[in-house]
Amino acid sequence: MTLLHEDIEKKVIETIRPSEEEIKLRDEIFSYVREKLMKALSKAGLKAEVTLQGSARKGTWLRGNLELDVFILFDPKSKEWIREVAFPLILKVAKELGTYELKFAEHPYIRVYIRGVPVDLVPAFKVEDGSKAITAVDRTPFHTRYVLSKIKELGDNIVDEIRLMKAFMKGIGTYGAEIKIQGFSGYACELIVLHYKGFGEAIRAISKWRPPVVVNAKRDIIKKFPNAEIILVDPVDPRRNVTAAVSAKSLSLTILAANRYLVKPKMEFFFPPKLKKSKAHLPVYLIQFPINNEPPETVWGELHRIGNSMAKNLRKL
Ligand code: UTP
Ligand code: MN
Ligand code: MN
Repeated sequence: MTLLHEDIEKKVIETIRPSEEEIKLRDEIFSYVREKLMKALSKAGLKAEVTLQGSARKGTWLRGNLELDVFILFDPKSKEWIREVAFPLILKVAKELGTYELKFAEHPYIRVYIRGVPVDLVPAFKVEDGSKAITAVDRTPFHTRYVLSKIKELGDNIVDEIRLMKAFMKGIGTYGAEIKIQGFSGYACELIVLHYKGFGEAIRAISKWRPPVVVNAKRDIIKKFPNAEIILVDPVDPRRNVTAAVSAKSLSLTILAANRYLVKPKMEFFFPPKLKKSKAHLPVYLIQFPINNEPPETVWGELHRIGNSMAKNLRKL
Protein backbone atom coordinates (compact mmCIF):
# COMPACT_ATOMS: atom_id res chain seq x y z
CA MET A 1 0.00 0.00 0.00
CA THR A 2 1.21 3.49 -0.77
CA LEU A 3 1.21 6.69 1.23
CA LEU A 4 -1.99 7.63 -0.56
CA HIS A 5 -3.71 4.46 0.64
CA GLU A 6 -2.58 5.21 4.17
CA ASP A 7 -3.88 8.80 4.03
CA ILE A 8 -7.24 7.77 2.72
CA GLU A 9 -7.66 4.89 5.13
CA LYS A 10 -6.73 7.09 8.09
CA LYS A 11 -9.36 9.63 7.09
CA VAL A 12 -12.00 6.96 6.59
CA ILE A 13 -11.19 5.33 9.93
CA GLU A 14 -11.71 8.65 11.71
CA THR A 15 -15.06 9.14 9.97
CA ILE A 16 -16.50 5.69 10.67
CA ARG A 17 -15.26 5.08 14.20
CA PRO A 18 -18.26 5.21 16.58
CA SER A 19 -18.42 8.38 18.69
CA GLU A 20 -18.39 8.45 22.49
CA GLU A 21 -22.04 9.54 22.47
CA GLU A 22 -22.99 6.60 20.28
CA ILE A 23 -21.24 4.17 22.62
CA LYS A 24 -23.09 5.71 25.56
CA LEU A 25 -26.36 5.50 23.66
CA ARG A 26 -25.72 1.80 22.98
CA ASP A 27 -25.13 1.12 26.67
CA GLU A 28 -28.19 3.06 27.80
CA ILE A 29 -30.50 1.45 25.28
CA PHE A 30 -29.24 -2.05 26.06
CA SER A 31 -29.68 -1.61 29.85
CA TYR A 32 -33.20 -0.28 29.29
CA VAL A 33 -34.26 -3.08 26.95
CA ARG A 34 -32.58 -5.73 29.07
CA GLU A 35 -34.43 -4.63 32.19
CA LYS A 36 -37.81 -4.58 30.43
CA LEU A 37 -37.25 -8.05 29.02
CA MET A 38 -35.98 -9.52 32.27
CA LYS A 39 -39.06 -8.24 34.10
CA ALA A 40 -41.47 -9.68 31.57
CA LEU A 41 -39.61 -13.00 31.52
CA SER A 42 -39.61 -13.44 35.26
CA LYS A 43 -43.30 -12.45 35.41
CA ALA A 44 -44.03 -15.22 32.91
CA GLY A 45 -41.86 -17.63 34.91
CA LEU A 46 -39.39 -18.11 32.07
CA LYS A 47 -35.67 -18.49 32.56
CA ALA A 48 -33.52 -16.76 29.94
CA GLU A 49 -30.39 -14.69 29.42
CA VAL A 50 -30.70 -11.33 27.72
CA THR A 51 -27.51 -10.65 25.79
CA LEU A 52 -26.11 -8.12 23.33
CA GLN A 53 -24.70 -9.65 20.13
CA GLY A 54 -23.80 -8.48 16.63
CA SER A 55 -21.71 -5.45 15.73
CA ALA A 56 -22.91 -3.33 18.70
CA ARG A 57 -21.41 -5.89 21.07
CA LYS A 58 -18.17 -6.32 19.12
CA GLY A 59 -17.70 -2.60 18.49
CA THR A 60 -17.57 -3.22 14.75
CA TRP A 61 -20.48 -1.00 13.67
CA LEU A 62 -20.00 2.07 11.48
CA ARG A 63 -20.63 5.48 13.00
CA GLY A 64 -24.17 6.60 12.28
CA ASN A 65 -25.29 3.00 11.78
CA LEU A 66 -25.85 1.91 15.35
CA GLU A 67 -28.25 -1.02 15.60
CA LEU A 68 -28.55 -3.42 18.53
CA ASP A 69 -28.96 -7.17 18.26
CA VAL A 70 -30.50 -8.29 21.53
CA PHE A 71 -30.60 -12.06 21.80
CA ILE A 72 -32.82 -13.69 24.40
CA LEU A 73 -31.24 -17.07 25.09
CA PHE A 74 -33.50 -19.85 26.34
CA ASP A 75 -32.68 -23.42 27.32
CA PRO A 76 -33.02 -25.66 24.23
CA LYS A 77 -36.58 -26.54 23.24
CA SER A 78 -38.23 -26.70 19.83
CA LYS A 79 -38.70 -24.20 17.01
CA GLU A 80 -42.46 -24.41 17.66
CA TRP A 81 -41.87 -23.35 21.25
CA ILE A 82 -40.12 -20.22 19.98
CA ARG A 83 -43.09 -19.42 17.76
CA GLU A 84 -45.76 -20.23 20.32
CA VAL A 85 -44.26 -19.14 23.65
CA ALA A 86 -41.12 -17.00 23.35
CA PHE A 87 -42.15 -14.90 20.36
CA PRO A 88 -45.54 -13.72 21.73
CA LEU A 89 -43.91 -12.70 25.01
CA ILE A 90 -41.19 -10.70 23.25
CA LEU A 91 -43.84 -9.14 21.04
CA LYS A 92 -45.70 -7.94 24.13
CA VAL A 93 -42.54 -6.25 25.43
CA ALA A 94 -41.81 -4.76 22.00
CA LYS A 95 -45.27 -3.14 21.94
CA GLU A 96 -44.46 -1.43 25.25
CA LEU A 97 -41.05 -0.32 24.03
CA GLY A 98 -42.22 1.66 21.03
CA THR A 99 -42.72 1.34 17.29
CA TYR A 100 -41.95 -2.11 16.08
CA GLU A 101 -41.98 -4.26 13.00
CA LEU A 102 -42.09 -8.02 12.63
CA LYS A 103 -39.18 -9.55 10.76
CA PHE A 104 -38.93 -13.02 9.38
CA ALA A 105 -35.52 -14.09 8.20
CA GLU A 106 -35.09 -17.86 8.49
CA HIS A 107 -36.30 -17.16 12.00
CA PRO A 108 -38.92 -14.83 13.48
CA TYR A 109 -37.68 -11.71 15.28
CA ILE A 110 -38.89 -8.22 16.10
CA ARG A 111 -37.33 -4.84 15.39
CA VAL A 112 -38.18 -1.97 17.74
CA TYR A 113 -37.01 1.63 17.44
CA ILE A 114 -35.74 3.21 20.64
CA ARG A 115 -34.55 6.81 20.53
CA GLY A 116 -34.34 6.36 16.77
CA VAL A 117 -32.07 3.32 17.03
CA PRO A 118 -33.20 -0.01 15.57
CA VAL A 119 -33.09 -2.80 18.13
CA ASP A 120 -33.55 -6.41 16.98
CA LEU A 121 -35.10 -8.69 19.58
CA VAL A 122 -34.16 -12.24 18.67
CA PRO A 123 -35.26 -15.35 20.60
CA ALA A 124 -32.63 -18.11 20.44
CA PHE A 125 -31.46 -21.25 22.22
CA LYS A 126 -28.43 -21.51 24.42
CA VAL A 127 -26.68 -24.57 22.95
CA GLU A 128 -23.36 -26.22 23.79
CA ASP A 129 -21.57 -25.20 20.62
CA GLY A 130 -22.28 -23.79 17.18
CA SER A 131 -22.68 -27.18 15.52
CA LYS A 132 -25.55 -28.01 17.94
CA ALA A 133 -27.65 -25.10 16.71
CA ILE A 134 -31.39 -25.82 16.64
CA THR A 135 -32.35 -22.54 14.95
CA ALA A 136 -30.14 -20.54 12.55
CA VAL A 137 -29.50 -17.82 15.11
CA ASP A 138 -28.23 -20.12 17.87
CA ARG A 139 -24.73 -19.82 16.40
CA THR A 140 -24.61 -16.06 16.91
CA PRO A 141 -23.27 -16.07 20.51
CA PHE A 142 -20.44 -18.31 19.26
CA HIS A 143 -19.75 -15.90 16.40
CA THR A 144 -19.48 -13.11 18.94
CA ARG A 145 -17.17 -15.12 21.17
CA TYR A 146 -14.96 -16.13 18.24
CA VAL A 147 -14.63 -12.61 16.85
CA LEU A 148 -13.98 -11.08 20.29
CA SER A 149 -11.24 -13.62 21.02
CA LYS A 150 -9.58 -12.93 17.65
CA ILE A 151 -9.75 -9.18 18.32
CA LYS A 152 -8.07 -9.79 21.66
CA GLU A 153 -5.37 -11.84 19.97
CA LEU A 154 -4.70 -9.38 17.14
CA GLY A 155 -5.23 -6.13 19.05
CA ASP A 156 -7.80 -3.33 18.94
CA ASN A 157 -6.45 -1.89 15.67
CA ILE A 158 -8.05 -4.78 13.83
CA VAL A 159 -11.47 -3.34 14.72
CA ASP A 160 -10.66 -0.23 12.66
CA GLU A 161 -9.62 -2.52 9.81
CA ILE A 162 -12.90 -4.45 10.06
CA ARG A 163 -14.86 -1.21 9.88
CA LEU A 164 -12.81 -0.19 6.83
CA MET A 165 -13.82 -3.39 5.09
CA LYS A 166 -17.49 -2.94 5.97
CA ALA A 167 -17.38 0.67 4.69
CA PHE A 168 -15.59 -0.43 1.50
CA MET A 169 -18.18 -3.12 0.76
CA LYS A 170 -20.98 -0.74 1.66
CA GLY A 171 -19.53 1.90 -0.64
CA ILE A 172 -19.26 -0.41 -3.63
CA GLY A 173 -22.67 -1.95 -2.89
CA THR A 174 -21.69 -5.46 -1.83
CA TYR A 175 -22.36 -5.20 1.92
CA GLY A 176 -25.28 -7.27 3.16
CA ALA A 177 -26.39 -10.87 2.67
CA GLU A 178 -30.01 -9.91 1.98
CA ILE A 179 -31.60 -10.82 -1.33
CA LYS A 180 -31.39 -7.27 -2.68
CA ILE A 181 -27.60 -7.15 -2.30
CA GLN A 182 -26.53 -10.82 -2.19
CA GLY A 183 -23.22 -9.74 -0.80
CA PHE A 184 -21.11 -10.06 2.33
CA SER A 185 -22.68 -10.04 5.81
CA GLY A 186 -21.10 -8.16 8.71
CA TYR A 187 -19.79 -11.44 10.09
CA ALA A 188 -18.27 -12.34 6.70
CA CYS A 189 -16.41 -8.98 6.59
CA GLU A 190 -15.14 -9.60 10.11
CA LEU A 191 -13.88 -13.08 9.26
CA ILE A 192 -12.19 -11.93 6.05
CA VAL A 193 -10.24 -9.17 7.81
CA LEU A 194 -9.36 -11.46 10.73
CA HIS A 195 -8.23 -14.17 8.33
CA TYR A 196 -5.91 -11.91 6.32
CA LYS A 197 -5.00 -9.89 9.44
CA GLY A 198 -5.78 -6.44 8.07
CA PHE A 199 -7.75 -4.42 5.52
CA GLY A 200 -4.88 -3.83 3.09
CA GLU A 201 -3.84 -7.47 3.27
CA ALA A 202 -7.42 -8.55 2.65
CA ILE A 203 -7.80 -6.19 -0.33
CA ARG A 204 -4.62 -7.57 -1.88
CA ALA A 205 -5.87 -11.13 -1.40
CA ILE A 206 -9.33 -10.28 -2.75
CA SER A 207 -7.79 -8.72 -5.87
CA LYS A 208 -6.39 -12.15 -6.69
CA TRP A 209 -9.53 -14.15 -5.89
CA ARG A 210 -10.90 -16.23 -8.77
CA PRO A 211 -14.22 -18.09 -8.42
CA PRO A 212 -14.91 -20.54 -6.99
CA VAL A 213 -12.99 -18.81 -4.19
CA VAL A 214 -11.91 -20.80 -1.14
CA VAL A 215 -10.90 -18.48 1.71
CA ASN A 216 -10.09 -20.60 4.73
CA ALA A 217 -10.11 -24.28 3.79
CA LYS A 218 -8.50 -26.81 1.47
CA ARG A 219 -9.44 -26.47 -2.18
CA ASP A 220 -11.37 -29.77 -2.30
CA ILE A 221 -14.04 -28.28 -0.04
CA ILE A 222 -15.71 -27.06 -3.25
CA LYS A 223 -17.08 -30.61 -3.57
CA LYS A 224 -19.04 -29.99 -0.36
CA PHE A 225 -20.43 -26.63 -1.56
CA PRO A 226 -20.73 -27.17 -5.33
CA ASN A 227 -23.01 -24.17 -5.92
CA ALA A 228 -21.03 -21.57 -4.00
CA GLU A 229 -19.14 -18.78 -5.77
CA ILE A 230 -17.09 -18.34 -2.62
CA ILE A 231 -16.55 -20.53 0.43
CA LEU A 232 -15.75 -19.10 3.85
CA VAL A 233 -16.15 -21.87 6.39
CA ASP A 234 -17.77 -20.81 9.64
CA PRO A 235 -15.15 -21.32 12.38
CA VAL A 236 -17.94 -22.18 14.83
CA ASP A 237 -19.74 -24.63 12.55
CA PRO A 238 -17.80 -26.28 9.71
CA ARG A 239 -21.02 -27.38 8.01
CA ARG A 240 -21.81 -23.79 7.17
CA ASN A 241 -20.54 -21.48 4.44
CA VAL A 242 -20.72 -17.92 5.78
CA THR A 243 -20.66 -16.50 2.24
CA ALA A 244 -23.38 -18.77 0.82
CA ALA A 245 -25.47 -15.73 -0.14
CA VAL A 246 -22.76 -14.05 -2.23
CA SER A 247 -23.75 -13.88 -5.91
CA ALA A 248 -21.36 -14.07 -8.85
CA LYS A 249 -22.14 -10.41 -9.52
CA SER A 250 -21.33 -9.18 -6.00
CA LEU A 251 -18.20 -11.29 -5.91
CA SER A 252 -16.92 -9.99 -9.26
CA LEU A 253 -17.71 -6.42 -8.30
CA THR A 254 -15.74 -6.84 -5.07
CA ILE A 255 -12.74 -8.34 -6.87
CA LEU A 256 -12.84 -5.60 -9.49
CA ALA A 257 -13.13 -2.85 -6.87
CA ALA A 258 -10.19 -4.32 -4.92
CA ASN A 259 -8.05 -4.21 -8.05
CA ARG A 260 -9.07 -0.64 -8.88
CA TYR A 261 -8.52 0.46 -5.29
CA LEU A 262 -4.98 -0.96 -5.29
CA VAL A 263 -4.11 0.98 -8.43
CA LYS A 264 -6.03 4.14 -7.65
CA PRO A 265 -7.32 4.59 -4.09
CA LYS A 266 -10.08 7.15 -3.70
CA MET A 267 -12.44 8.23 -0.90
CA GLU A 268 -15.29 7.48 -3.31
CA PHE A 269 -14.83 3.74 -2.78
CA PHE A 270 -15.97 4.23 0.81
CA PHE A 271 -18.29 7.20 0.33
CA PRO A 272 -19.75 7.10 -3.18
CA PRO A 273 -21.42 10.30 -4.36
CA LYS A 274 -25.17 10.11 -3.85
CA LEU A 275 -27.33 9.95 -6.92
CA LYS A 276 -29.66 12.91 -7.01
CA LYS A 277 -33.21 11.75 -6.53
CA SER A 278 -35.85 13.38 -8.61
CA LYS A 279 -38.97 14.36 -6.71
CA ALA A 280 -41.23 14.11 -9.74
CA HIS A 281 -42.54 10.82 -11.08
CA LEU A 282 -41.05 10.86 -14.52
CA PRO A 283 -42.75 9.36 -17.52
CA VAL A 284 -40.98 6.39 -19.12
CA TYR A 285 -40.37 6.38 -22.86
CA LEU A 286 -39.64 3.27 -24.82
CA ILE A 287 -37.57 3.67 -27.97
CA GLN A 288 -37.31 0.81 -30.44
CA PHE A 289 -34.47 0.41 -32.92
CA PRO A 290 -34.42 -2.05 -35.84
CA ILE A 291 -31.38 -4.35 -35.61
CA ASN A 292 -31.17 -5.85 -39.12
CA ASN A 293 -29.32 -9.08 -38.25
CA GLU A 294 -26.27 -7.27 -36.87
CA PRO A 295 -24.06 -9.28 -34.47
CA PRO A 296 -24.86 -8.68 -30.76
CA GLU A 297 -21.53 -6.90 -30.10
CA THR A 298 -22.36 -4.29 -32.72
CA VAL A 299 -25.93 -3.85 -31.48
CA TRP A 300 -24.94 -3.51 -27.83
CA GLY A 301 -22.10 -1.13 -28.71
CA GLU A 302 -24.51 0.97 -30.75
CA LEU A 303 -27.16 0.96 -28.02
CA HIS A 304 -24.60 1.98 -25.38
CA ARG A 305 -23.41 4.84 -27.60
CA ILE A 306 -26.97 6.00 -28.25
CA GLY A 307 -27.84 5.72 -24.55
CA ASN A 308 -24.79 7.69 -23.47
CA SER A 309 -25.30 10.41 -26.02
CA MET A 310 -29.01 10.75 -25.17
CA ALA A 311 -28.18 11.00 -21.45
CA LYS A 312 -25.52 13.62 -22.22
CA ASN A 313 -27.85 15.71 -24.32
CA LEU A 314 -30.75 15.43 -21.89
CA ARG A 315 -28.52 16.60 -19.04
CA LYS A 316 -27.87 19.79 -21.01
CA LEU A 317 -31.60 20.65 -21.08
P1 UTP B 1 -26.76 -8.28 11.73
O1 UTP B 1 -27.41 -8.47 10.41
O2 UTP B 1 -27.31 -7.23 12.61
O3 UTP B 1 -25.20 -8.06 11.43
O4 UTP B 1 -26.82 -9.67 12.47
P2 UTP B 1 -24.01 -7.37 12.26
O5 UTP B 1 -22.87 -8.31 12.25
O6 UTP B 1 -24.49 -6.90 13.58
O7 UTP B 1 -23.60 -6.15 11.32
P3 UTP B 1 -24.29 -4.69 11.20
O8 UTP B 1 -23.23 -3.76 11.70
O9 UTP B 1 -25.54 -4.69 12.01
O10 UTP B 1 -24.54 -4.51 9.73
C1 UTP B 1 -26.28 -9.86 13.75
C2 UTP B 1 -26.01 -11.32 13.95
O11 UTP B 1 -27.23 -12.03 13.97
C3 UTP B 1 -27.13 -13.23 13.25
C4 UTP B 1 -25.72 -13.32 12.68
O12 UTP B 1 -24.97 -14.20 13.49
C5 UTP B 1 -25.19 -11.91 12.81
O13 UTP B 1 -23.80 -11.93 13.08
N1 UTP B 1 -28.21 -13.29 12.25
C6 UTP B 1 -28.83 -12.16 11.84
C7 UTP B 1 -28.60 -14.49 11.72
O14 UTP B 1 -28.02 -15.54 12.08
N2 UTP B 1 -29.61 -14.52 10.82
C8 UTP B 1 -30.25 -13.41 10.40
O15 UTP B 1 -31.17 -13.49 9.56
C9 UTP B 1 -29.85 -12.18 10.92
MN1 MN C 1 -26.30 -5.77 13.77
MN1 MN D 1 -29.54 -7.01 13.29
